[in-house]
Amino acid sequence: MNQDIFLTMASLSEEIKGTVITSAEQLESFRIRFVGSKNIIKTLFGEIKNVPNERKKEFGLVLNALKEEAESRFELEKERLDASADQGRNHDLDLTAPVYYDSIGSRHPVSIVMNRIIRIFERIGFTVAEEREIENDWYNFTAMNTPEDHPARDMQDTFYLKDSTVDLLRTHTSSVQARIMTTQKPPIRIIAPGRVYRNETISSRSHCQFHQVEGLYIDKKVSFADMKQTLLYFAREMYGPQTEIRLRPSYFPFTEPSAEMDVYWGLKNEDDYRITKGTGWLEILGCGMVDPNVLSNCGIDPEEYTGFAFGMGIERQAMLQYKVTDIRQFFENDIRFLKQFSGAL
Ligand code: PHE
Repeated sequence: MNQDIFLTMASLSEEIKGTVITSAEQLESFRIRFVGSKNIIKTLFGEIKNVPNERKKEFGLVLNALKEEAESRFELEKERLDASADQGRNHDLDLTAPVYYDSIGSRHPVSIVMNRIIRIFERIGFTVAEEREIENDWYNFTAMNTPEDHPARDMQDTFYLKDSTVDLLRTHTSSVQARIMTTQKPPIRIIAPGRVYRNETISSRSHCQFHQVEGLYIDKKVSFADMKQTLLYFAREMYGPQTEIRLRPSYFPFTEPSAEMDVYWGLKNEDDYRITKGTGWLEILGCGMVDPNVLSNCGIDPEEYTGFAFGMGIERQAMLQYKVTDIRQFFENDIRFLKQFSGAL
């Protein structure tokens, strides 16, 4: 027995030295076996009664040494493990490491320009009206005073829905004018952004889908001068405080008189000559006084009310602003193209 207990202590000492401790779990098993409240060394202290008196002292010394050996190994390994865990944490929190940016996407250039236009008109009391892209013939054409035989109704220009002669993809946001006038009473002051569709050959300059912003203002005694002043305000907010505009007589079925508005772009370099076809002027929008026929088609008395309307394309303005030379880029959703607009609102 005596001999046995000394052997047991020797082999425990070997075990304390030789246990592999590289994880928190291994450390915990070691703790339970050698230093915990019910550890194996403690139970050996009870064996002292079986040790002959002349070896009791030796037994006590060896056992205490064993206890200390276990405790110091435990402390050492605990410190080591804590230190390496700390290192792991410190690595995650390395304040000198380069920042990882989350990519947060960006607004589409068409949306950026559209939002700018909306904000300009909102500041003078226009509110946004949004309507359907699938329209019918009446709102898109008939109400807007477009005769039955007008070329715009031709299959060449308009996408009709399958098996329908009346349902179509709206060809302009002017259909929103009819939607609003038939449901709201004047005064009406709306701005209507949205997508429109035309059966055009797709090229770098035209597409079968694009965006417009429509404006409509109807009240008593609204005049052409009101329209001109509103559009001048818009042009100067959009293109700079010194911007000059000109109105050229034009024709639209739904306005009378009708005009096209140009802004003076200038002829500073070769690009300006190309963009303005050598004139220095850029056509931005179509406009005019709402035709009395349109008002009465939509249930508004043209004797009592007058109004003006305007409509402008967005893509061309976005192309000018961002020097985009191919309209198709707006619809390809190439991430390399879109990323260039991050940060803009
Ligand atoms: N709807 C016309 C177009 O698409 C623009 C326009 C709108 C003209 C309102 C006059 C008044 O070209």
